Formats: sequence, C-alpha cells, structure tokens
Amino acid sequence: MNHFLDIHRTDPADLRAMIDDAATTKAARAGKPKGSLDADLPLKDHMVALIFEKPSTRTRVSFDVGVRQMGGQTMLLSGADMQLGHGETIADTARVLSRYVDMIMIRTFEEATLLELAEYATVPVINGLTNRTHPCQIMADILTFEEHRGPIKGKKVVWSGDGNNVFASFAHAAKQFEFDLVFTGPQPLDPEPALDGLYTTIRNPQEAVDGADLVVTDTWVSMHDPQSARERRHNQFRGYQVNEDLMTHASDDALFMHCLPAHRDDEATSAVMDGPHSVIFDEAENRLHAQKAVMRWCLGK
Ligand code: CP
Ligand code: NVA
Repeated sequence: MNHFLDIHRTDPADLRAMIDDAATTKAARAGKPKGSLDADLPLKDHMVALIFEKPSTRTRVSFDVGVRQMGGQTMLLSGADMQLGHGETIADTARVLSRYVDMIMIRTFEEATLLELAEYATVPVINGLTNRTHPCQIMADILTFEEHRGPIKGKKVVWSGDGNNVFASFAHAAKQFEFDLVFTGPQPLDPEPALDGLYTTIRNPQEAVDGADLVVTDTWVSMHDPQSARERRHNQFRGYQVNEDLMTHASDDALFMHCLPAHRDDEATSAVMDGPHSVIFDEAENRLHAQKAVMRWCLGK
C-alpha cells in the first residue's frame, strides 16, 4: 500500500513508472466513450472516498470518472458536512473511513491534516491539494509536456507569478524529473524557503523566460489566501502577467500551462490561453489519466 502525499515524498522511479503507465492506459482507451470501463478493471470492487474541504471542478470530476472507468465506486464527501468539520479528530476520521473504503483522496487546507490522515489511515491517502502542494496537478503537467515535446529531463521550465502550492509541486518535480525550473515573481511573494535549492530566481520576467521550453502560471490569489489581499497582490503581480509579448522571449515552440481555474487577462491573457503555445485543456484532461495511474500505484494494481 502506498500513499501519494507529495512528489518529493515519492521515489523518482515510481513517479516515472506512473507517467509511463498513464500514457499507456490513456492510449488504450482512445476514442472510447468517457463512461466505458477499462478492460482490466483494476479498481473492481473498490470504494474510494473523495473529500473536499475546498471547491473543485477538475479534481472532483477527474477522480470520480477515473475511479468509475477502472471499475470502482466513489463517495463524494464535503468536509463541512462531515464530523471532521465539527470537532472529530483527523485520526479518528482516518480510522473510521478506513473501515468503509479502500482509498481516500482529500483536498484540504493545512498540510498537517493530510499527513495526519495518512498516518492513521490503513488505506492509501492521496493529496488532492493543500495550501502547500498540488502533486496530482504536476503529474498531469509532466504527462502533458512529454506528450507534446518528449522527455522533460533537461528542459527549461519557467514559472511566472505566485510561488504558491502548484509552484511548490513543480519545484519538487524539478528535482525528481531532472528539469531546470526558473521562478520569476515579486520578491515579497517568493516561494517558501523550504523550496530553496530546487529552482533559480530571475526577477526580470523577459530575462527569465529566455529560451523557455515551458511557461507556467497560476492564479494570483489562491483559495487559502485572504480575499482582503487581492488588490495588493494584483498590484504586485501585474508585471508578471503571461501575455503574447512575454511569450516572444520563450522558445518558438514553448508550451504554455495553467492548472486552471484561470482569471483570464489577470495572470495570463486570453490571447495566450487560447493561442498556439497553450495546452491548458490537455492538462485538464490529463488529470484523469495521471490520477488513474496514481491510484493504481497506490493500490499496487
Ligand atoms: N486544477 C485544479 O485542481 O482544478 P480544480 O480546483 O477545479 O480541482
Ligand atoms: N493555487 C490554486 C490552485 C487551484 C487549483 C489554489 O490553491 O487556489
């Protein structure tokens, strides 16, 4: 039994195997209706709990569809409706859920909640985003990059904007998948110090994206950030918008990614999001295929 808690907590060989598995199983069901079952039914007779303490479109739907395609069943739980949100401990929640379900995916606020759930659960736990990381997203992003451009090893990836939870998982992936990661953003909003050494910082965005194979950004205000900080943050990040002018500094065949949901014409312009470099909807689709591989790995299937 394996937990999938973070990219830096997972063996690089296992990460590589999951990406390759995702590509193979995606190809095997090409052209089939979305609700059709995978031939090998790896999650047959398995029940998976999907817990959300924050909103979600992609994570919710892709996990739900993924489990069903693999022959399993899902249970969608809102954190606010559970006793977890009303004082029951995380440890007790983990012990109880482990008696009913075969795997737990959780989207939560504090990373400590995820880690405690995993400590006390006797079934695999998957990180569906915390304030600190979003590993499933980056597994989908690696799959997407490699589909379009081949191995990501040795490539230059540039993140422009907020050094947030999605950036943190990119930083972990840079080490595990051996690519170069450059961060460009305003100094007061630098990534957390725990990520130091996993990336280089170049303050000037045009200079940073020079020769980039992949340019990535994300919302300037994440779900856990106070809305009161919105205007200040927008003022700080404005110079780091990914627009057509910035993309001219990247490689001619550079890809553009955004995990979505986007605030169009804030962190990235619609011209870039809908333009020739963009693979944002392939990324969204690949959440499904990458997470199916993660779930199979968790259950040893
Ligand atoms: N990218 C992502 O995790 O999207 P959702 O918040 O819609 O799940
Ligand atoms: N950084 C964003 C990602 C959403 C998928 C957030 O945490 O809100």
